[in-house]
Amino acid sequence: MILVYSLGGSILYERSADELKNFARSLVDLAEYHQVYVVVGGGKIAREYIGKARALEAGEAFCDLLGIGATKLNAMLLIAALGKAAAPEPPETYARALAASAGGKIVVLGGMQPGQTTDAVAALLAEYVHADKLIVATSVDGVYSADPGIDPKAKKFDTMTHQDLVRLSMETEMKAGSRSPVDPLAAKIVERSSIPTAVVYGGDVENLKRAAEGSHSGTEIS
Ligand code: UTP
Repeated sequence: MILVYSLGGSILYERSADELKNFARSLVDLAEYHQVYVVVGGGKIAREYIGKARALEAGEAFCDLLGIGATKLNAMLLIAALGKAAAPEPPETYARALAASAGGKIVVLGGMQPGQTTDAVAALLAEYVHADKLIVATSVDGVYSADPGIDPKAKKFDTMTHQDLVRLSMETEMKAGSRSPVDPLAAKIVERSSIPTAVVYGGDVENLKRAAEGSHSGTEIS
């Protein structure tokens, strides 16, 4: 299968070098059977830098570019952990990502352009490479009716349609560094191309494998 992962930046940031090595090993295992692309988010570094830049009255597009820089830092760190199993740098275009996958290399990407998040990059990449599945691995274990960190009544969806996802994500504010489950642009992309998508907790690397097989406890979107 062709698999595209959207990996929340915090999942990498919180790991020691040894943990990153183990994490990378699991991705290499996956890549034995599948073509794997990983789009890495900015996590805490992005949020901190965007927060400071905004306080310094930088504009939103500027903050987005700062965020993209953070995603690239995280992508390079994952490439370091993957070693020879990965293409040596985050590609700047979708066409280069496709080319870099030749020979079974894992391709690790960061952000692309302002006005979106890495979920949208992952969705567009999934379209471009005709992925069998898009797996959004985040710090939350699925898509909820509301932010589970804020609303104790928030309910997790086991399954939902692409249209449901679009509706839910549209309700979330679109600002640099915002923390929606899936960004609205990503939701629209997976909807228009009917890309089978899963949202799972990415902190447990086994979940990344389970998500590929469909046996996970997150949200399945189709
Ligand atoms: P993330 O993809 O990590 O954003 O990119 P996020 O979803 O808000 O972060 P998490 O998942 O909650 O940790 C970090 C920031 O980089 C910019 C945006 O400002 C985004 O919020 N970015 C990223 C872009 O402008 N374009 C991109 O293609 C990617």
